[in-house]
Amino acid sequence: MKITACIFDLDGVIVDTAGYHFQAWKQTAENLGVSFDEHDNEQLKGVGRMDSLNYILDKGNISKTEAEKKQLAHDKNEHYKTLITNMDASEILPGVVSILDQAEKAGYKIALGSASKNARMILKKTGLIDRFEFIVDGNGFINGKPDPEVFLNGAKGLNVSPSETIVFEDSLKGVQAAISGGFYAVGIGAPEILKEAHIVINDFKNITLTNIIIKIQQAIIK
Ligand code: BG6
Ligand code: MG
Repeated sequence: MKITACIFDLDGVIVDTAGYHFQAWKQTAENLGVSFDEHDNEQLKGVGRMDSLNYILDKGNISKTEAEKKQLAHDKNEHYKTLITNMDASEILPGVVSILDQAEKAGYKIALGSASKNARMILKKTGLIDRFEFIVDGNGFINGKPDPEVFLNGAKGLNVSPSETIVFEDSLKGVQAAISGGFYAVGIGAPEILKEAHIVINDFKNITLTNIIIKIQQAIIK
């Protein structure tokens, strides 16, 4: 097993933005008279803005014109942006900086593979933007996760092959995207949800990149 690159999802892997997305979508949903809970939020992890809105509209059996949808998505994003106005490096998830350091030291190429159109802004706010050699954000693909396009574009940008690349993901759709693209998938979060990944870890606390690679190797042999 030869590793030459790592691709990181952003929301839920590098920064814990799920709570802010949840708050903003819940507001949108409630304005439309649709209930929205943690289970709904889980379905929307890794899902782009418009598809997320469509999920809420479908749930409420509501139909809107394209112009109305654009406005609703815009309003949600404005709300989300006010929630993350003061975001800084203190919101980087524990262990992330160390994993980036270790990847860099090992000579691995590092990319971002996120569905978010706010990805660059968040990486700037947290001071991490220069850590990524290549960034695929919500403007960088046509087919969203679980389609592998976002990660395949990342691998292409780094000039590496998926079979030499580890993808770090907190969403089921993202894990599925990584697996179907031929990457090694490391799930960050609950094993019950992310069981399709090669391995699942709780977070980056108390684990080294070397250990992660050893665990993947063991999982493949099994
Ligand atoms: C994903 C998040 O990374 O990006 C989703 O998991 C979010 O919750 C999606 O909806 C799109 O983000 P944005 O910032 O472009 O609205
Ligand atoms: Mg995510």
